[in-house]
Amino acid sequence: MSFLQLAEEMKEKIIGFRRHLHQHPELSFLEYRTAEFVAGILEEYEIDVERNVAGTGIIGMITGDLPGKTVALRADMDALPIEEQTNLPYSSSNRGVMHACGHDFHTSILLGTAIILSQYKDKLKGNIKLIFQPGEEKLTGAKKMIEAGVLKNPCVDAIMALHCWPELPAGTVGVRKGPITAAADFLEITIRGKEGHAAHPHKCVDPIVIAGHIVSALQTVVSREIAPTDPAVVTIGKINGGTASNVIPSSVQLSGMIRTVNPDLQKRMPEIIERIVCKSAESMNGEAEVKYMSATPPLICHDGMVGLIDNVVTDLLGRDRLVYLENPSLGSEDFSFYANEIPGVLFRLGTHDEREDSRFPLHNSRVTFAEEALTTGVAVMCGAAVHYLSNEKSLMVKHIL
Ligand code: NI
Repeated sequence: MSFLQLAEEMKEKIIGFRRHLHQHPELSFLEYRTAEFVAGILEEYEIDVERNVAGTGIIGMITGDLPGKTVALRADMDALPIEEQTNLPYSSSNRGVMHACGHDFHTSILLGTAIILSQYKDKLKGNIKLIFQPGEEKLTGAKKMIEAGVLKNPCVDAIMALHCWPELPAGTVGVRKGPITAAADFLEITIRGKEGHAAHPHKCVDPIVIAGHIVSALQTVVSREIAPTDPAVVTIGKINGGTASNVIPSSVQLSGMIRTVNPDLQKRMPEIIERIVCKSAESMNGEAEVKYMSATPPLICHDGMVGLIDNVVTDLLGRDRLVYLENPSLGSEDFSFYANEIPGVLFRLGTHDEREDSRFPLHNSRVTFAEEALTTGVAVMCGAAVHYLSNEKSLMVKHIL
């Protein structure tokens, strides 16, 4: 029996988990019912469960009968503040909240993986830690789980996760050596001028004009300050200022987001932004203040772990089901916090089929994911965990069970 056959045998059950989770999505750090659902299933299969980790997080532990390393498998459980427009029969019943990033897939795939692996404890060399994490969409859940000690007792040697990827067809897996997602940083800028009558601008300092210059000047960060080969994004997503057409206000607020893939560049960014913003304001007699907040580092996959996923996918599904992604995504993933501590890999799980809706991007109110991908995810997760612990490729994937 291969892990793919085992996953296929429990397909209906995994689809059931997924539809239940999809219908009952919960926002970041409010995953109470989701966590209880997860814990209940793990306990049904006699897996040790720790509740309320970093709030609503759940840790499951499968302890093998034979001594060995510990590998962690991570799923995220939270949904997004989006009003679902898919018309699926199991659409969200929690109005304004939707599993539009596939975290319902991630959670049900990890449950399926746990059920399969829990039945082979006697053959398992080492331990499998199942991490069901809250708050990924806020990019803070992983860090809180680490602070709560998830990588200790027993010490975790390596970690893996998957993420739904509508750009790839269901049944395929995407990997990338090096960075696969970007660092996310956030910006709050306050520009202060001198308020007054709109007809007497020479007696005022107009923060709206300064804001206009700053938004334009920030476009030179990517075009003039950074090597063209280094991917980066600077976006001002929000401007707030002014009360009336005939009043020059005293201040304007800008909010923005910065994405980088190169960790050295992420470190340089605050200086570049602050210099451009503050000196632009100063040149027009105003003042600016920049609050720069780093949310996540880039997610850099460990070469050896990528090689492991490559072996498992090739063995289980065939070489034609494995895609090496050319570019990193400039999206972010807080899995990077784990991968900064220990060797880690995140692979992309293809989720589109012939339906047009399945090609919509993540975080879209109409995106649907192909459920055929669920068993692919379970099989690869099982194979990768066992392969890592055994270190004997030929034995593990197809023949051990
Ligand atoms: Ni996501």
